[in-house]
Amino acid sequence: MCGIVGYVGARDASPILLDGLRRLEYRGYDSAGIAILAANGKIEIRKREGKLNSLIGALNGDAPKGMLGLGHTRWATHGAPNDTNAHPHSDCSGRLAVVHNGIVENYAELRAELRACGHTFTTETDTEVLAHLIEQEIKGNEGNGALALVAAVQRTLKRVRGTYGIGVMDMTDPELLVAARHFSPLIIGLGAGENFIASDIPALLPHTKHVLLIEDGEVAALTRDDVHLYTLDGDSVERDPLVVDWDVQSAEKGGYPHFFLKEINEQPAALANALRGRVDEQGVHVAELDALDLDRIQRVVLLACGSSYHAGLVGKRVLEEWVRVPAEALIASEYRYANPVIDDHTLAILITQSGETADTIASLRLCRSAGAQTLALTNTIGSSITRGATATVNLQVGPEIGVVASKTFSAQVLLLELIALDWAQRRGTLDTARVKVSAQQFARLPDIVHTALGTDHQMQQLAKKISSRKSCFFFGRGFGYPTALEGALKLKEVSYLHAEGYPAGELKHGPIAMLDPEIPVIAIAAHSVILEKVVSNIQEVRARQAPVIALATEGDDGIAAHAGDVVYLPHAPEELTPMVATVPLQLLAYYVAIERGCDVDQPRNLAKSVTVE
Ligand code: G6P
Repeated sequence: MCGIVGYVGARDASPILLDGLRRLEYRGYDSAGIAILAANGKIEIRKREGKLNSLIGALNGDAPKGMLGLGHTRWATHGAPNDTNAHPHSDCSGRLAVVHNGIVENYAELRAELRACGHTFTTETDTEVLAHLIEQEIKGNEGNGALALVAAVQRTLKRVRGTYGIGVMDMTDPELLVAARHFSPLIIGLGAGENFIASDIPALLPHTKHVLLIEDGEVAALTRDDVHLYTLDGDSVERDPLVVDWDVQSAEKGGYPHFFLKEINEQPAALANALRGRVDEQGVHVAELDALDLDRIQRVVLLACGSSYHAGLVGKRVLEEWVRVPAEALIASEYRYANPVIDDHTLAILITQSGETADTIASLRLCRSAGAQTLALTNTIGSSITRGATATVNLQVGPEIGVVASKTFSAQVLLLELIALDWAQRRGTLDTARVKVSAQQFARLPDIVHTALGTDHQMQQLAKKISSRKSCFFFGRGFGYPTALEGALKLKEVSYLHAEGYPAGELKHGPIAMLDPEIPVIAIAAHSVILEKVVSNIQEVRARQAPVIALATEGDDGIAAHAGDVVYLPHAPEELTPMVATVPLQLLAYYVAIERGCDVDQPRNLAKSVTVE
């Protein structure tokens, strides 16, 4: 939610910032802007409503030149998405430029106070108060050199309530970039004779793999050759950098027209990576579980949003079935305000691919403060969720750039199942031989998913059939239910075709009233112990003349008698259904979006990383 990039070094900053913004555009695309300290000693700001391409068009090859700069791509919270409200923002004199991701909750109060001191505001944003407050705080302190800006930022941030990742530059100090964070992501990239800030790793990958984390409540001062970290009180902080093992190609499209399609097709390799070191002939071992006191745990809550929540529903099921521990999957934005019962016998599993979803992080804090053990499941090394969790399991699937989740969803499901298997083995609720059989099945998962990708052509054809419909239903039971939810969410997100996912047995309690020959129903009818029940539900739907597309297991010829179209999935144990059946559903969503002319990688109104409530 909003992308920030900043550069200080010896190269021309504009191309670096624009390339960084391109790599962060998944975070928001309501407007884009850059601020450059130009050769005339002034800060030149260029910003435009709309996607980065509008800004690039407006620059027309004539971006300001300079070696210090900031860039921003916005997901609007306060103030309409227009040119004026686009970042960077400035103070009264134009001396400063500020970019911000987050929300200044007390901005109205601060703005009134600053207005009373004579400051003039030109935008409707909460961010603009930061520029004026820093301007106010820096006055009279210029004698302190570089520390004047750092100190002004520290004093400003002590007055701010809310969340922020910010970048600040001052035209009187051409060598200095200041950054800070509090509950919004921001990292530092360490180069040779140059340094960077960015909201996320992909923006840094063309330049460096050495990353320094900024923690909440810290301020960083970056020059070409140095980076210093401070607390808001001015104490120095020492921290070792991390090395990121993602390569730059993994954050590029690699010949695919869209990241979403690339990431769908990457799933066999992504799942093979996620399995690496965790599954072998002998069984399953998720080493991160060693950090937990498993014997103490009497119940589990799985907390997440969006697709991650759907993965959590699968986690709940396997934890109960295999570990025999009571488990529930809950939506983090509800959980955090629900005054839930949490104690030191609770394990909270926080599922978030970005590691930055505000509600999931708030749930982590809530659980931790109530004494629960916490396990983060994320794809983003060094992200907020990893700080403060008792243990972190990394998905190991490389960057996911398409706004709509694909490979991270399958990997979340996989890891939750591996966690449950390993825990069941440790607890003795599944015997070693049973776990070994599962391990062998999991080892085949990348091949099974590869086979499922063979439905591509059929899904293209089905997409043509359904793309002009007003609405679609997805249903399934057991492992098919979270799969149905995920299929419906994909379709909504990327193609704007209304879709609902339902437990198959629940359709008759309301939604069946909506069915008619114009509303396709997609039934997850893969092999399962309750397949017969799903078939009965398909018949109920057919009786209402709704066209049925069934996802069935190869060899299930009988299903063709009940469904207008059958998509055959490769043979797989029931628990692999969410990872296998989701593949054609992702492809369906993709091709419907193409048919409807939608922006696949940047659907309207969405952002990949939702860092506000
Ligand atoms: C946003 C994305 C979804 C994602 C959800 C949770 O809404 O558009 O695709 O599932 O956030 O994200 P997380 O990073 O916490 O998994």
